[in-house]
Amino acid sequence: MSTSNPMREQWNSRLGFMLAALGSAVGLGNIWRFSYVAGENGGAAFLLIYLICIALIGVPIVMAEFTIGKRAQSDVVGAFQSLAPGKPWVIGGFLGVASAFIILAFYGVVAGWSIYYFLQYLGGGPDLAGAGGSEAFFGSFHTGAVFPLLWQFLFMFITVGIVFVGVKKGIEKSNKLLMPLLAILVLILAGYSMTLDGAGEAMAFLFSPDWSALADPGVYIAALSQAFFSLSLGMGALITYGSYLKQKEKLPGAAAGVATMDSLFAIVAGLMIFPAVFTFGIEPGSGPGLVFVVLPEIFDSLAVGPIFGLLFFFLLSAAAVSSGVSLLEVAVAYFMRQMNWSRKTASVIIGSIIFVLGIPASLGFGAWSTVTIIGENGILDSMDFLASYIFLPLGGMIIALFIGWGWKKSDALQASDFGETTLGTIWIWILRIVAPLAILAIFLYSTGIWTP
Ligand code: PHE
Ligand code: NA
Repeated sequence: MSTSNPMREQWNSRLGFMLAALGSAVGLGNIWRFSYVAGENGGAAFLLIYLICIALIGVPIVMAEFTIGKRAQSDVVGAFQSLAPGKPWVIGGFLGVASAFIILAFYGVVAGWSIYYFLQYLGGGPDLAGAGGSEAFFGSFHTGAVFPLLWQFLFMFITVGIVFVGVKKGIEKSNKLLMPLLAILVLILAGYSMTLDGAGEAMAFLFSPDWSALADPGVYIAALSQAFFSLSLGMGALITYGSYLKQKEKLPGAAAGVATMDSLFAIVAGLMIFPAVFTFGIEPGSGPGLVFVVLPEIFDSLAVGPIFGLLFFFLLSAAAVSSGVSLLEVAVAYFMRQMNWSRKTASVIIGSIIFVLGIPASLGFGAWSTVTIIGENGILDSMDFLASYIFLPLGGMIIALFIGWGWKKSDALQASDFGETTLGTIWIWILRIVAPLAILAIFLYSTGIWTP
């Protein structure tokens, strides 16, 4: 069954694995993407559907990915090939590798913005007044041709560096230190933000749903995509991380823990960002620049702001790196096995290709800002759309169906560590029926093919 290759790397401990999976989950998705997507989709109604997607579809598929990885002890393509040789399930693996390229390419652009802000605060903070306000400051920076690429390159360089070093010494170590720090800082900032004048409006925006928003088909697919993106789901990051587990380590607690922590991170980030959005009169639906415009306003209004700014953007950049590492590892693990490359060769080659793929995403805000690819979306938004709206949910559906129907039930229950329990049976039926149908329904409803 499990191909035990004595040369393959493994985690030091179960805790190390959990923190690495959490490091993959917690990233720009919780702060940058969550806040602007929630802002564009009506706040509370979106949050409600998002949390339902996490609980009903997300957690069971996190478990599915961990189970596949741990059993197969292989990368996302190899896992399908070894567990179901000659079967079409492996398409899910190739989709995963493709998603890794697309997501990391645009992720690096936004992570680069974060690194730039970190360096600005290292120098005492950006001169917002001189630039004509924080919106103008961000505008003139991220539309530039050369500087954003420099920071994107630096991000990719660090990410490649960690993957290059390996599973234990690189990935596991870096996550152990950074995750707790980020949690503390986000809590402190949210606490401060809740004292701002806009806090009441923010609470209403986030927690009292405008039910009419539920009639908007776009909200459902936005929530589902955000759930997949935020949990690092549907593209094999968690299969790959699960594959470095020893057979004796138990899974279900880890899956629930990662999903809970990731959701708490997003909610607390919302409590940090939206009071400031309303206090400073910024439009919640103003798009991908939201946190880069809003947070500097908070920091500017505080005596200790520059220190907070420094810490915040350091940790945001670090969280981006730990997620970027998991994206790169999906592709690196695949090419190491497939091409027989060393880890070092694979990380440098794949990292370079992904950096180049990200260049258009960056230029899409400046020189190439008139280019639209999918609908009205610019280059970065189109890459995000393709990966998050299509590849991840589709990949998730394949993974769910694979365990639900491609495995014998007793085998799946044993591999998952659920055993013959009620929880295990519920899990199987969610993977067989509930999750695939929910994903399909959301697809059809949001594209207008189906109206209930
Ligand atoms: N979950 C990460 C975040 O929220 C992004 C990510 C997606 C990482 C898919 C790995 C795989 O930022
Ligand atoms: Na996340």
